[in-house]
Amino acid sequence: MGRSGFDRIPYAWYHDEALYRLEIERIFEGETWSFLGLEAEIPNPGDFRRTFVGEAPIVYNRAEDGRVHAFVNRCSHRGALIQRENFGNVSAHVCLYHSWTYDLAGDLVAVPHRHGVGGSPGMPDDFDMECHGLRKLRVDGVNGVLFATFSETVEPLRDYLGPTHVAHLERLFRGPVRILGYQRQAVRSNWKAYLENVRDHYHGALLHGFQSTFGINRSTHDCGSRMDPEGRHSLLFVRQPREEYENAPPPETDPGPLRPLDEAAEGTRLSLQDPTLLRFEREFDDDRSTTMCSIFPNSTFQQIRNALAARQIRPRGPGAFDLVFTIFGYEDDSEEMTAHRLRQANMAGPAGYVSLEDAEALESCQTGHRAGGSDASVVEMGGRGPIRDGDEKLDDVMIRGFWSYYCDIMGLDPNEG
Ligand SMILES: [Fe+2]
Repeated sequence: MGRSGFDRIPYAWYHDEALYRLEIERIFEGETWSFLGLEAEIPNPGDFRRTFVGEAPIVYNRAEDGRVHAFVNRCSHRGALIQRENFGNVSAHVCLYHSWTYDLAGDLVAVPHRHGVGGSPGMPDDFDMECHGLRKLRVDGVNGVLFATFSETVEPLRDYLGPTHVAHLERLFRGPVRILGYQRQAVRSNWKAYLENVRDHYHGALLHGFQSTFGINRSTHDCGSRMDPEGRHSLLFVRQPREEYENAPPPETDPGPLRPLDEAAEGTRLSLQDPTLLRFEREFDDDRSTTMCSIFPNSTFQQIRNALAARQIRPRGPGAFDLVFTIFGYEDDSEEMTAHRLRQANMAGPAGYVSLEDAEALESCQTGHRAGGSDASVVEMGGRGPIRDGDEKLDDVMIRGFWSYYCDIMGLDPNEG
């Protein structure tokens, strides 16, 4: 870090089909670790879950010895999916087409009629089962958060994440996790725009009226941003000192100021019928009430008060991606705390109080970019100077950090875009 620039990003980079194909090759199937899912989703031997790394359909499962394996969900025979359920428990994966069968390590263990039947010769004598296993990924994790890579040469996971982001994942996954549910949001925008969005403090209080109105995230809040040394991962946080929320009047008597830009709301005082929605039970050893941690290239880990979720990006071409939310709490949560988390879970998500606006903003960018051939975005809130960590709310520095790393891994120069 410390580099300058990366403040003009060509709009074509959000649309170009050939560039997108190169991203799949160099990023999602290259020297990176992608978020797979949580160990808590597959607690028992034989448990599996379907997921994606880039556009590649993936199955990950737990073998009899407890180890987690991940492989491409594609039969080595003719390419059919070997697993069509999202979750389940199996002793082996059997392709529906010709029943080729794979064990929980992804090795091919059965080929029907391999030695022929009724006089037909079957597979050639030199057919080697060992050469036709599923395409495997390397898997590693931090406190039950699983990542996988196609690369044999990428650095070890903890080195890839760096100490700041390892520490944050250890904080957020501080104990055994209880899965509370899933949401999926289909967004018609380029996947990189989402990585910008979760690095973007500037929009938080402006776009998200719910957050500013009810005091979750305001432009005046104490906050900060942290990157890894290469600028590829981000951590954005809002601090609310303990005294502030413990001594604050109940929300129904303090609905917060009006949105400064919303003149239509002048004279109204918005309030919630159920103010417990806003409650923040302190559960970490710090003052961070909101944290957004983005791990390049496909995940964000969310804490909005007590609403915790892992978000996975599944790109679907240059102009669309799916965002899959895995909502979680902890095994030692009381039933009351679980109910609170579930109520608060609707803070974000496809019909939530917050992130539907992100989708609307990103989709409008995707449309706007189409106008004109050589235009670029202006990413210079907070200056064009060195890319480094800070405690300023209104800056684009982590977005520039993202682009500096993206350009490195892709071999691109934004000035030549
Ligand atoms: Fe947002």
